[in-house]
Order: sequence, then C-alpha cells, then structure tokens
Amino acid sequence: MFSKSALIATVTLALLTSATPVDRAQGTVVPFAKRSGLTTADGVFDHKKAIVDMVHTHNKHRQNMVNLHKNDPDGMNEGASIRPLRTYETSGSHEKRQAESTIDQGNGEDWAGPISIGTPGTNFLIDFDTGSSDLWVPSTNCTSVACVSKSKYIAAASSTSHEQGGNFSIHYGDGSTVSGPVFTDTVTVAGIKVDNQYFSPVTTLSDKFATDPMDGILGMAYQSISSLGQPPFANQAKSQGKLRYGIFSMKLSVQGSELYLGGLDFSKFTERVEWHPVTGSGYWQIANANAIVNGKAVNSGFQTIIDSGTTIMYGPPSDVAAFYKSFPGASEFDSQNGIWQFPCSGQPTVAFNWGGKTWNVSASDFNLGMTSPGSSYCIGALAGQDLGLGDNVWLLGDSFMKSVYTVFSFDQNSVGFAKLAP
Ligand SMILES: *[C@@H]1O[C@H](CO)[C@@H](O)[C@H](O)[C@H]1NC(C)=O
Ligand SMILES: *[C@@H]1O[C@H](CO)[C@@H](O)[C@H](O)[C@H]1NC(C)=O
Ligand SMILES: *[C@@H]1O[C@H](CO)[C@@H](O)[C@H](O)[C@H]1NC(C)=O
Repeated sequence: MFSKSALIATVTLALLTSATPVDRAQGTVVPFAKRSGLTTADGVFDHKKAIVDMVHTHNKHRQNMVNLHKNDPDGMNEGASIRPLRTYETSGSHEKRQAESTIDQGNGEDWAGPISIGTPGTNFLIDFDTGSSDLWVPSTNCTSVACVSKSKYIAAASSTSHEQGGNFSIHYGDGSTVSGPVFTDTVTVAGIKVDNQYFSPVTTLSDKFATDPMDGILGMAYQSISSLGQPPFANQAKSQGKLRYGIFSMKLSVQGSELYLGGLDFSKFTERVEWHPVTGSGYWQIANANAIVNGKAVNSGFQTIIDSGTTIMYGPPSDVAAFYKSFPGASEFDSQNGIWQFPCSGQPTVAFNWGGKTWNVSASDFNLGMTSPGSSYCIGALAGQDLGLGDNVWLLGDSFMKSVYTVFSFDQNSVGFAKLAP
C-alpha cells in the first residue's frame, strides 16, 4: 500500500539528503547509553540470557500480531499468525530460576535514552524500540518488585495528566504481565514536547525488567501495531508541528550511539542514504532482501523488519538452516531455539543487501561468543524461529543495526541505510 508514494519519496529524500543539511538544526539528539549483549565478559555465549531475550522477542511480536489483527487485519503479511505465548518454564526444567539468576547481573541490554513525562516533568530512561508502537513507564501505583528501583509516574503530580478509558497489557514471558491504565500527558524527548501523548503508567511490571536500567519503552513503529491504538510519539510530534520532518535516525554502536529525532545527523554517516519503501503494515519492513555469506547470496527475495528493540536476528527455521549450510562445519546448537554454532576459526563474512549496496555485519557483531569456555565453536547472531511475522519475513535487530546508520521516514514510508562515519 505504501509503494507508490514511497517511490516518489525515494526521489525527494535523495534530494533532501544530498542537499545542504538544513534539516539538521530542526532535529535533536537523544544520546543512548551503551548496552551489553548476550556474551559474557570472558567471551562465552550466555545461553540462558539469550533464551530470556528470545522469549521476550517472541512475545513482543506476538502482541504486535494481536494488535495488527485487531487494527488492520488486511495489513498482515502472508502467513502471519498469532503464535502461542512462550514462557521460560516451557523451554526447560530449571530455566525459570536460571533465567532469573542470569538477569540479576544488572546488565542493561537496551539502547536507553532520557525522556520526561508530565508538567512539571518526571524523567525516565527509555528503550527506543522501532519494533513496537506503545509508550509505557512504571506508575507510582506499581506493586511489582521490578518497579522498586524505577522512576515512577504520579498522575496527581502533573497538571497535564488525563486518565483515558481502558487498559494496556503485554506478556513478555516470565509469567507476569506489564499492564496498567491508559493516560495522556505531555511527553518531552530531547526538547521535543508533545501534548496529549497516549501511554500507560504500568501497575505491574515483569521480573525481566527488575535489573534492567531502563524504566520503560517508547515504541517507534506504526500505529497499526499499537496496543493503545493511538499514534506513537514521533508521529504525534510531526502532526503537532514539533518536527519539521517525519524522520528519525539511529546509530547503535559501542560509542556515540544516538537517536536523532526529526532528520538525519550528518556527522554520523558518509555517502548517500540508500532508501527502501516500507511494505506491509505496522512495521519498518522492507522487501527484496538477500543474505550474503562470503560474498554469495544464500537466501534471496525475503522481507525484513528493522527492529532496534531486538538484540539479534531471526529468520524462518528452514531459511536459517540454508543460511548456515554455507558456513563450513556449522550445526544446530539448540534446536528448540534455532540457535546455530560454527567453528570460530572459520567465520565467514555475513552481509545483507536490498538490491543496492552490500551492508556488512561486522564479524564481532555476528559472533555471540564461544559455546563454552575454551570451545572452538561459536554462536551466530541469526536464529531460526517462527515468530508469526509471516512467510519469508526476517527480523533484523541490533546485530545488524550496529553496522549501519539507519533512517526511518514515516513522511515517505521508507527505511534508509548509510555507511557509518569512521
Ligand atoms: C494511582 O492511584 C491513585 C489513587 O487511586 C490515582 O488517583 C492515580 O490516578 C493512579 N495512577 C497514577 C499514575 O498516579
Ligand atoms: C482495567 O483493569 C482494571 C484492574 O484490573 C479493571 O478493574 C477494569 O475493569 C479494567 N477496565 C477495562 C476497561 O477493561
Ligand atoms: C562490505 O564489504 C565488502 C568487502 O569487503 C566491500 O566491498 C563493501 O564496500 C562493504 N560494504 C559497505 C557498505 O561498506
């Protein structure tokens, strides 16, 4: 449905990005805190933490499918479905307990930045998530243990707070839910102040978030996957005239990570931006992707969803099996979770292209670490799982995004990639 306007958009954006960066002054930077991944300090793959992360990813996208089915059923990808909820318990005997000890290490794994809600504002550290579309933060009424160390929203302390009808809830996988009532209030991100933004101050918060430094999530995908059924922050900012361009950009890396709201940060990339029209509904999804191993396309013509709120990359199990067939000596490490291992010494180069440049995934981002201390086998950052996103749909999270500058334009319904500035 987007393709025609997106085609025109590509031209407009090409002009925009090659012209004098006038929009730079219009945009605003949100610096991100560094994240830790699924590898321990001694270079070993953290299997238990990965499972917690995978269950979280599965259930997040399950909720997106529930919302899309409700908001725009015709917009669902072919073969998309609402998969059963996953919990840690169902994936192994002692996994729940183990998972908890894993996540008690206090490692944040999100690209978190500050926002403020209310008048006067209360500050929250937020995970900016291009793979969901709702905003939630802990409520002062939250009784969950996970809320103890969090910043909390107090409706009575804000002169611009309004309770709306209804409830918000999402299951992330540890048996509890993240849920609460629905409010509107003023939300400010890097000086961009949006009035009457829908969000949920949550009164229950799952254990997974207990030791995570971030307080809540700000969704940056399209309204059709919103549980609240309301425009996400960036769209509201544009429609209230607070952003000149309906564009935001992300750099996710070890240093200098940021969200750039309202345009592109010309100091963070080089050369031109390569644009691709958004396909389908709800997600930052682009078509005609190829996966390339050692310079040869091993999977072709698939859809990809670009999701800053997902740690690794996922594809349909059979496609991912075909992908690893091109890795000498690769085999399945955990068949239940579609996790693959390969000889560390012979790691091929991995890249994706969408008909333009070949976007390399850095070797260190693809390698999640040794299978055990001293092992000669390493784990790959692409897992084979059916997340219900549709036939032929892959999910590219941070493992991919760390290697490129990514631009999201809802003005033109396009995703752009550019080379990171050295
Ligand atoms: C918390 O509870 C109080 C008292 O029931 C209520 O007035 C308020 O709206 C609730 N929510 C928040 C976010 O403060
Ligand atoms: C929202 O949840 C509260 C508490 O669980 C419940 O009392 C209320 O009826 C729910 N409201 C709606 C509209 O579902
Ligand atoms: C990816 O790597 C190949 C081979 O080293 C190189 O030719 C190509 O320019 C790289 N792509 C980008 C976008 O940097």
